[in-house]
Amino acid sequence: MQNLLHPGEVSVPRHLAIIMDGNGRWAKKRGMMRLMGHRQGAKAVTRTVEFCASHGVSILTLFAFSSENWKRPPEEVSGLMDLFASVLKSERDRLHKNNIKVKFIGDLSRFSDKLKNAIASLEQLTEHNSAMILNIAINYGGRWDIMQAAKSLVSDALANNIALEDINEQSIQQRLAVIEDVDLLVRTGGESRISNFLLYQCAYSEFYVCDALWPDFDEEQIQLAFTYFNSRERRFGMTSEQIAKK
Ligand code: FPP
Repeated sequence: MQNLLHPGEVSVPRHLAIIMDGNGRWAKKRGMMRLMGHRQGAKAVTRTVEFCASHGVSILTLFAFSSENWKRPPEEVSGLMDLFASVLKSERDRLHKNNIKVKFIGDLSRFSDKLKNAIASLEQLTEHNSAMILNIAINYGGRWDIMQAAKSLVSDALANNIALEDINEQSIQQRLAVIEDVDLLVRTGGESRISNFLLYQCAYSEFYVCDALWPDFDEEQIQLAFTYFNSRERRFGMTSEQIAKK
């Protein structure tokens, strides 16, 4: 593998978010069932988590199941649920040993008690880990996230815990499932859509679309994404000249 990342020369994104797309197409190309693509995709998840943790990414947020994914054929949905449960079990010790803090984001109420218990147990086990935060978005939608933040604000306002003038961009952001702004958003599978992912958090993120299907996403692909990120001038609404002076 060509080594594109040279320590000290390339800065990695602090918060990397990934829309993992293309599992179905990967399987179809090989005449396999879609679920085989998801299984292969789970291997790419393990690879990506290890790479990011060992290269200094602070937060990695993965879109594993959107609130719209329930509309898929029932056998695919239940296959995905089984896959999540089995990955939680098989990766539990490794994640903890690698000092990774795991958090699940999304409306978890629709999942089985068994899956919810496995999630709670992994979150509890890794709660004090500090090498990297791994957010796994399941039954997640960006609009849902903003809605639940709004509900929390209204509830605090009704209880007189927050004044109207203290409702601002920060107090909304503090109540989101993921508080931190995304630095780099990667989407595999060649489509350039945000698909209701971290809508609020991606306001100023760089967006990198790659044609590789998610199961083929490997260390070389991540390095290309990081190299792209490094080539961007992040202006946050300012001019190039202002950035140069900072
Ligand atoms: C999108 O590809 C992928 C998903 C909806 C599922 C993502 C799940 C995994 C990567 C497996 C395991 C994940 C974890 C966190 C353990 P698609 O099926 O829409 O692909 P297509 O566009 O080619 O049909």
